[in-house]
Amino acid sequence: MKIKTSVFVKSSSNNEQCPAPDRPEYAFIGRSNVGKSSLINSLTQRRDLAKTSSKPGKTQVINHFNINNEWYLVDLPGYGYAKVSQADRKKWSEMIENYLFKRESLVCTFVLIDSRIEPQKVDLEFIEKLGTQGVPFALVFTKTDKLTANQLKINLENYKKTLLETWVDLPQIFVTSSVANQGREEILQQINEWNQLPK
Ligand code: GTP
Ligand code: MG
Repeated sequence: MKIKTSVFVKSSSNNEQCPAPDRPEYAFIGRSNVGKSSLINSLTQRRDLAKTSSKPGKTQVINHFNINNEWYLVDLPGYGYAKVSQADRKKWSEMIENYLFKRESLVCTFVLIDSRIEPQKVDLEFIEKLGTQGVPFALVFTKTDKLTANQLKINLENYKKTLLETWVDLPQIFVTSSVANQGREEILQQINEWNQLPK
């Protein structure tokens, strides 16, 4: 799929503020700093469409991007950042869960996982919650440019093994690097297929 136009629409801090749910929508979630905003820039081939930072906690609200005037990409704030207060954590989970569990036009949530590290409890619990709530999701392993091919293979196998301890089937998995634009075509092709589904 070719991305012809990508335009920032708005930032929202709750569901009611989000644009009308009148087209397919795809959200990116995962731990702070995992590379959500960078992946959106890689997908759209725009350097600075979604704001990125080397410091965790950059994205703070729900950001909608209008793609080809046909569908939305949604950049979400990350979870699991240690320096966040209990009160802010609660605010985050209310905002995100309200959005993810209730947004009727959300076709798939891409959960981003850092390919360099061991499976993390916070990610596994988050995935578990999506499953319990029946939110469709796919996994996206990020920052693969920072690993050797062999180490990546070992980490992916290890992750799948961990998932199969609680899940009967594996979800759809994408392997990406925003620096090398790896996995971009695969994600866009899948989104294109989902966009063709009857509403
Ligand atoms: P929050 O908005 O804070 O939750 O973070 P985020 O998940 O949106 O992460 P962001 O895209 O801002 O990226 C965090 C840092 O990781 C930045 O310094 C990026 O340049 C870097 N980064 C993101 N993706 C990649 C990647 O594929 N490869 C490499 N090498 N660095 C990456
Ligand atoms: Mg971000």
